[in-house]
Amino acid sequence: MIFGRVKPLDAILATAEKKSLHRSLGAFQLTMLGVGAVIGTGIFVLTAEAAQKAGPGMMISFIIAGVVCAVAALCYAEMASMVPVSGSAYTYSYAVMGELLAWMVGWALILEYAVAAGAVSVGWSGYMIGIIENAFHIDVPSALVLGPYDGGIINLPAMFIAGLVTWLLVIGTKESATVNAVLVLIKITALTLFVVLALPVMKMENFEPFAPLGMAGISAAAASIFFAYVGFDAVSTAAEETKNPQRNMPIGLIGSLGICTIFYILVAAGVIGSVGAQPISDAAGNAYAAGSLELSKACAALGDNAVVCSKEALAWTLRNIGWTQIGNLVGLAATIALPSVILMMMFGQTRIFFVMSRDGLLPQMFSKIHPRFHTPHVITIITGVFVALFAAFFPVGKLADISNSGTLFAFAMVSIAVMVLRRTDAGRARPFRTPAVNIVAPISIAGCVYLFWSLSVDTKLMFVGWAAVGLVVYFLYSRSRSHVGRGSVEVHETDADAPPPPVPPVPEL
Ligand code: ALA
Repeated sequence: MIFGRVKPLDAILATAEKKSLHRSLGAFQLTMLGVGAVIGTGIFVLTAEAAQKAGPGMMISFIIAGVVCAVAALCYAEMASMVPVSGSAYTYSYAVMGELLAWMVGWALILEYAVAAGAVSVGWSGYMIGIIENAFHIDVPSALVLGPYDGGIINLPAMFIAGLVTWLLVIGTKESATVNAVLVLIKITALTLFVVLALPVMKMENFEPFAPLGMAGISAAAASIFFAYVGFDAVSTAAEETKNPQRNMPIGLIGSLGICTIFYILVAAGVIGSVGAQPISDAAGNAYAAGSLELSKACAALGDNAVVCSKEALAWTLRNIGWTQIGNLVGLAATIALPSVILMMMFGQTRIFFVMSRDGLLPQMFSKIHPRFHTPHVITIITGVFVALFAAFFPVGKLADISNSGTLFAFAMVSIAVMVLRRTDAGRARPFRTPAVNIVAPISIAGCVYLFWSLSVDTKLMFVGWAAVGLVVYFLYSRSRSHVGRGSVEVHETDADAPPPPVPPVPEL
């Protein structure tokens, strides 16, 4: 019975109780945590990709992606408040749908977190180079700052930032609440400034034609721009540190998503209205594929004079409407704030690996703790190497799409888990109940399937290949070593979470 290995919910919950982290986060801090994890490359960079895919219709794409995230968040919130332990979708799936599906979810979360960290690193690189070129007027050789798909050879700044974040994680850096609050403020200020300056110079004719590539384009852009909302599940992983999670967790999840959606729609309107956002097409009128070498060649021929060509869409837009210095400042804001998104993503990745390794599904070596820094340094360094390699050679849009495929799979599984658990364990206390679960959860599942389906064929194939590798690893390695499979579900004090708290004070960013 391959679906029979379930980690009992009571054992998972007992783990959480034993650990008893200090519960200090309230609704406001959770919302800030969410906004801090969510606003990043998606809005600052991928707006250009979305424009190439959908033109002005990308505003609808932002709404579609936001709605799918909102319904998925409502399902997440029920699970997060019921099973307030780390490991997020992986842990929920283990309790509800068994080891094999949990493994597949954990495997997909590698795409969500590690590949996303690569995407944000590439996004950071675009803004960093934009500042060097525009504020300091230094011409940087593009061969060394762009990957092969963008017409370069290797993206060294993206590798650098991935390496730096890895090092910070190895020495045990955690983002403090204060730093997060400051970064959220910087991001919100930058986006507000953008909206305030771009909306007044909006021209209605820039919204015509509204959907040059039809509904297919809008759907494809929604599937990509979904990346802009990823990260809200960082809130659910903080459930153990939340005061009154019953009330605060859903407020944090929905609140942060709501704030981000409003900003995204306003920013998209600002870009479209002020500088126009029509896709670039070949002589036959067919739009080039976003993130392709053909598009970067066409852009070069146009002197990169279109927002869809920009690697720093918001700064580019502001410079183009005459706000050069403010454009540079918005670029600086992105450069300062994006590394914290990379840090959260990589931290999330190491934590999931850590839990999977504690469950016996990944090598024990992965959960080895550094004697001085008290961090899972082995897995952090392995993760960092992969993130740096993704960032060096792949374009941001491709990485974001691959990451989305994993995330959509995980969200769909969580939505299924909520429905299954309502039937199999109806009596268990549910601090937060997904409203109208029989409508919301199926909409969430359908939304995830629809967005997944709207991804490019390459991305879907990549996901299928990744899942196939995951199955091979599971049956060749993990299945026989699983602790649950060996009948051991006893509760370890550090079973469900990252390493024991360090003895020396943790350096904070
Ligand atoms: N939502 C995050 C971003 O856009 C991952 O960078």
